[in-house]
Amino acid sequence: MKSNKNIVLVGMMGSGKSSIGKLLSKKTGLDFIDIDALIEKKENKSITEIFKVNGEKYFRDLEEKISIKKLQEYNNVISLGGGAFLNAKIRKKSSLNSITVWLNWKTSTLIDRIKDSKKRPVVTNLKANEIKDLIEERSKIYNSSDYKVNCDKLSKSEIINKIKNFYENT
Ligand code: S3P
Repeated sequence: MKSNKNIVLVGMMGSGKSSIGKLLSKKTGLDFIDIDALIEKKENKSITEIFKVNGEKYFRDLEEKISIKKLQEYNNVISLGGGAFLNAKIRKKSSLNSITVWLNWKTSTLIDRIKDSKKRPVVTNLKANEIKDLIEERSKIYNSSDYKVNCDKLSKSEIINKIKNFYENT
């Protein structure tokens, strides 16, 4: 039977939630929603500027509001920001009419991808070993997702097919 649930992509910065999400939406015919992009549009500022001008708390409150609103809809692929799933209210909403999928990568892959990024205020001032601790700490929570994909050895289309398969079998 065709599900009308959302597919919610969870995982660290640099795990490909947006790029995989876009491709997955094409493949499944579901609409694509990128929560960070919605926040940037609403505020007319980049995430980095929001952190700088308004602070992290302001960003997290907006993230909660917008994520919860979108999680009440159906038939979307939703890319959550990397910190969103740490919020218990967002996790609870994600457990209702969505399947959650953790895009898991080796810690070293993620560190290489995000350590020099100027677009990721949470890690801007962190050293590699501090990013590693953050990934390990967060992974305990990401691990409560319904499904996990170990992405390192897979092509993008293999990742997408796996997720589509999870979705079709829910
Ligand atoms: C964050 C991840 C970012 C963005 C913000 C905070 C985090 O999203 O929401 O910079 O705390 O991990 P991406 O995971 O899409 O980079």
